[in-house]
Amino acid sequence: GHAHRVFSGVQPTGNLHLGNYLGAVKRFVEMQGRGAETLYCVVDLHAITVPQKPAELRGAIRELTAAFLACGLDPERSIIFNQSQVPAHAELAWLFNCVARIGWLNRMTQFKEKAGKDREGASVGLYAYPVLMAADILVYKATHVPVGEDQKQHLELARDIAAKFNLDFEAPDYFPQPEPMIEGPATRVMSLRDGTKKMSKSDPSDLSRINLTDDADAIALKIRKAQTDPEPLPETVDGLAGRPGADNLVGVYAALTDRTKADVVAEWAGKPFSAFKPALADLAVQKVAPIAGRMRDLLADPGHIDAVLANGAERASAIAEPVARGAYDLAGL
Ligand code: ADP
Ligand code: NA
Repeated sequence: GHAHRVFSGVQPTGNLHLGNYLGAVKRFVEMQGRGAETLYCVVDLHAITVPQKPAELRGAIRELTAAFLACGLDPERSIIFNQSQVPAHAELAWLFNCVARIGWLNRMTQFKEKAGKDREGASVGLYAYPVLMAADILVYKATHVPVGEDQKQHLELARDIAAKFNLDFEAPDYFPQPEPMIEGPATRVMSLRDGTKKMSKSDPSDLSRINLTDDADAIALKIRKAQTDPEPLPETVDGLAGRPGADNLVGVYAALTDRTKADVVAEWAGKPFSAFKPALADLAVQKVAPIAGRMRDLLADPGHIDAVLANGAERASAIAEPVARGAYDLAGL
């Protein structure tokens, strides 16, 4: 067996953006073949916590799978699958709904953001979403979870649920404490239009985010228009403090080149953003634009994508079913 097991998921809800790529999928790719077992999931059960059109959802599941593959996830080295094909996620989630406390969920800030003003009109699923996420992770007894900064609170909840389950059912080591891996210069990529908001697919401004399907012209335009201040790049990385637009672009540059922000600042110290932005645009085009081409090729053969998901679901179920069964046994079910 493996000492470490890595799990993470992404929702099939429209285009992946640069934040999803740098904060999550690029890091998923890097974790392959480092001795840990890696499982990457298209979390379609999370997508339906808000209304979806069934035919579009079906397409979005294939598109995200194609994006995973186009970014470099490899079915030979990772288990790539969609959540709804592995019933153990939902089974364990129900048990966890009875372990988690309402007070714990009331503290989740993402629910407040996603539910907006009409909290009474949100689905029960949207509220319980972090409990399902805990089940996604723990049904594999995953030890490491690469995610963006926005998922930190949900990971803490998963740890609390694991601990309470183990305590309630007197099984001290049944579920491990999963470690969030929130690392690197791009754990929170910000909107290109407003440095106080994270880059998000729900932002109404198209200029706020770079989508993985953007062409070279769109990528270059969005970087040219990205919000910065009139100052040049600072002499040291500390000089990025209080300059959200500048800090964001340096972080993106660093993540795209696998360097630290300090390295990037050292190279560009004192140079103006009018010089930095075209270099960043070239870099982003070089790294991001080929992904869309590979996605298109993959989507031309939906049968292949479905086969990848079916094979992944079979391998995922082989791990998840006994873990869920064991949890039910402990609970007397
Ligand atoms: P979204 O947050 O865009 O709705 P998901 O919830 O499916 O997308 O998130 C997929 C992954 O992308 C998660 O690990 C999340 O933390 C990460 N992520 C989302 N937005 C950003 C961002 N702006 N910067 C860094 N990582 C992000
Ligand atoms: Na998110």
